[in-house]
Amino acid sequence: MIDVLLGLQWGDEGKGKVVDYFAPQYDVVARFQGGPNAGHTLHVNGTKLVLHQVPSGILHPRINNLIGSGVVLDAITLQKECSTLNAMGIGVYDNLLVSERANLIVPTHRLLDKASELAKGKEKIGSTLKGIGPAYMDMTGRNALRVGNIMQADFDAEYRKLRTKHLRLLSTYGFEEDFADQEAEFFAAVEFLRGLKIVNGEYWMNEQLLQNRPVLAEGAQGSMLDVTFGTFPFVTSSHTLAGGVCTGLGIAPKHIREVIGVSKAYCTRVGSGPFPTELEDETGERLRQIGSEFGATTGRPRRCGWIDLVALNYACMVNGVTQLVITKFDVLDTFEELQVCTAYQINDQLTTQLPFDLSKTDIKPQYQTFKGWQTETANFRHKAQLPQAIHRYTAFLEKELHTPIRFISNGPAREQIVQV
Ligand code: GDP
Ligand code: IMO
Ligand code: MG
Repeated sequence: MIDVLLGLQWGDEGKGKVVDYFAPQYDVVARFQGGPNAGHTLHVNGTKLVLHQVPSGILHPRINNLIGSGVVLDAITLQKECSTLNAMGIGVYDNLLVSERANLIVPTHRLLDKASELAKGKEKIGSTLKGIGPAYMDMTGRNALRVGNIMQADFDAEYRKLRTKHLRLLSTYGFEEDFADQEAEFFAAVEFLRGLKIVNGEYWMNEQLLQNRPVLAEGAQGSMLDVTFGTFPFVTSSHTLAGGVCTGLGIAPKHIREVIGVSKAYCTRVGSGPFPTELEDETGERLRQIGSEFGATTGRPRRCGWIDLVALNYACMVNGVTQLVITKFDVLDTFEELQVCTAYQINDQLTTQLPFDLSKTDIKPQYQTFKGWQTETANFRHKAQLPQAIHRYTAFLEKELHTPIRFISNGPAREQIVQV
């Protein structure tokens, strides 16, 4: 049985924190897509940890953590992350596994990402520049190197071939940058990767299911960044939706039980692209400051706005979300009023459906106003402690999204969560 936990907005919903909280209920946590563009933050016993490649179950020594076949893997980032974990006294040699089918990010992928963004100019995606797009292009273009290749005798020759192809592409962009240091780091990191547990991900995963070991699939990015169903072209290059779990882990749909959707009580986006409920005023700035809304991977300020039920309803539909976790309630503690977007006005017509191309559509979000709770919530641990205004807010979200809310999160720490 597999439960899926994924983001319903544009990423950074608090997935890492929630995965770490739920992890004790599972034997395995598995990443199924994305790469080091992810930044999943865990706050445990006063220590902050940001994970980019390693699944967020790693703090629990009993749990196996799999980097699945659908992931693009940057060995340099992985090695650094493992060193940080080791320095914290967390071993990775026993309970971290890497699928041999995961695609490798090589240094020239990052250069290609940069060259592509530079060429787009004002229309750039706002990529994290971690090489994600070019690495997935090499996967679908059937050129990629995968983790399994590092065990083969011709790995260096295959790497050279890919490098030559990339250099040719870079020259068509007119892009040049010395990457000798990154290449040396890459080969050192590949050596490190050879020392980890490399497995056939699909046999391993199906064996877990056969043994009735509960698995949590950890999504990266968010539903609105899905390469097909997100706000294309301002998206990432992987399938971030529940459907991506099957293709990313090599398991059948029949194994999926719950789909847990995570959303903030408001909304953020980092990078370019449409964001109908964005607040480019002091209210947006207030959300950013109180919510510490700065990217966990790039440090960029996140764009902030009100919760958008049109986009969330769409995300619930395409994922088949069965339960919700709403995070960052504490960030709204001081607000007198809250707005919830319930519909879009497009050309004088009201709609609750997401248009084909949000970036080329003039959308006026329609809001319903809620009274804020104006109570400090960070120390609440039980449903009965929550103010009535929170209950009114969550009851409205449940009704509009046709999905039960199971937990609300009221702070970054593991224990700051309330079952509702
Ligand atoms: P992820 O990418 O979905 O794992 O989310 P990030 O880690 O990128 O961003 C979420 C940020 O919000 C992190 O800094 C978390 O520590 C923090 N966070 C998570 N849940 C809560 C919450 O309920 N309240 C507050 N104040 N912060 C939270
Ligand atoms: P987590 O897992 C928020 C955004 C980037 C950019 C677009 C494409 O922490 O929620 P890419 O690097 O994939 O080429 O960038 O997607 N993006 C994220 N935004 N959280 C993430 O991951 C993201 N991963 C990518 O900012 O707009
Ligand atoms: Mg993040």
